Amino acid sequence: MTKVIMDCDPGIDDAIALTVLLAHPEKADLIGVTTVGGNVRLEKVTANAKKLLTFLDANTELASGQAEPLVKEIETAGEIHGKTGMDGYDFPEESSEYPLASHNAVTFMYNKISNCDEKVNIVATAPLTNIALLLKTFPEVMGNIEHIYIMGGSTLQGNITTAAEFNAYVDPEAMKIVFDSGLPITLSGLNLTEDKAYMKMDEIKHIKDLGKVGVMASSILGFYSSAELAKGMTKIPVHDACAVMSLIAPELFTKSTNYSIDVSLSDDQFRGMTYPDRRIYAEEHNNIKVLEDVDREAFVKYLFDSIASYEK
Ligand code: RIB
Ligand code: CA
Repeated sequence: MTKVIMDCDPGIDDAIALTVLLAHPEKADLIGVTTVGGNVRLEKVTANAKKLLTFLDANTELASGQAEPLVKEIETAGEIHGKTGMDGYDFPEESSEYPLASHNAVTFMYNKISNCDEKVNIVATAPLTNIALLLKTFPEVMGNIEHIYIMGGSTLQGNITTAAEFNAYVDPEAMKIVFDSGLPITLSGLNLTEDKAYMKMDEIKHIKDLGKVGVMASSILGFYSSAELAKGMTKIPVHDACAVMSLIAPELFTKSTNYSIDVSLSDDQFRGMTYPDRRIYAEEHNNIKVLEDVDREAFVKYLFDSIASYEK
């Protein structure tokens, strides 16, 4: 069975991604969820993870992690995810009771991975602060990491700035540590999540007909898409679902290229920019599989079916 740890900053698209992941116990054994400051501050991100795991009747262990990026102060994205970081649906009060196994995601992940009798996959849908600290603090753990599936970066446009995608921008030093680790990575960047694996408004509206979890998902996506539409987006990117689906349904992704990717750490308008080495004679290890296209209709259907499956 594929063992998985998900590191996230719910965050509405993280919530959809986690909902899809938990809908497929036949594909992935989720042995832990860790939180990191990103879309909103750590306290709210962790509270949102508790709400969602309770709502989905999950029993995976939860640990909170780093509140701030490695070097700079955190910049959040409340305008997209709302004041709570997961606006749009009133989760039951008891959600806050979900147990927290640890306040230290790094040692939590280290223990989970090193004690697992098979290699562990990491799905990372947030700034990579926890993952970078794990690799730097316990480099020996890399021997038991199978693959890292990341939503972050871009080979084309930015979103938080013209040059940088949000997760890369918040902690570029962490992303560089993870990219340079040599571990096999599958990357869902904005070039995929915005340009190819987007959802249309009518598809988002359809989700409300997919049972109790569908009502929740469509409610939070309703808030999220209104924020995206206000920005002028007509194609709604559910970014983090790509990272999860690249692990549990890789057949949906129809084109990819392996690159080495560098991350700008400069203190200027390029900070957090991710750029692949496209040189003909690129010498570095091309350890990052950049996803470049998807069967969009199949992607949307998979998301629908995952949400509907909670009704069975
Ligand atoms: O740029 C999109 C990414 O930043 C997503 O992971 C979203 O949840 C935010 O964390
Ligand atoms: Ca995220």
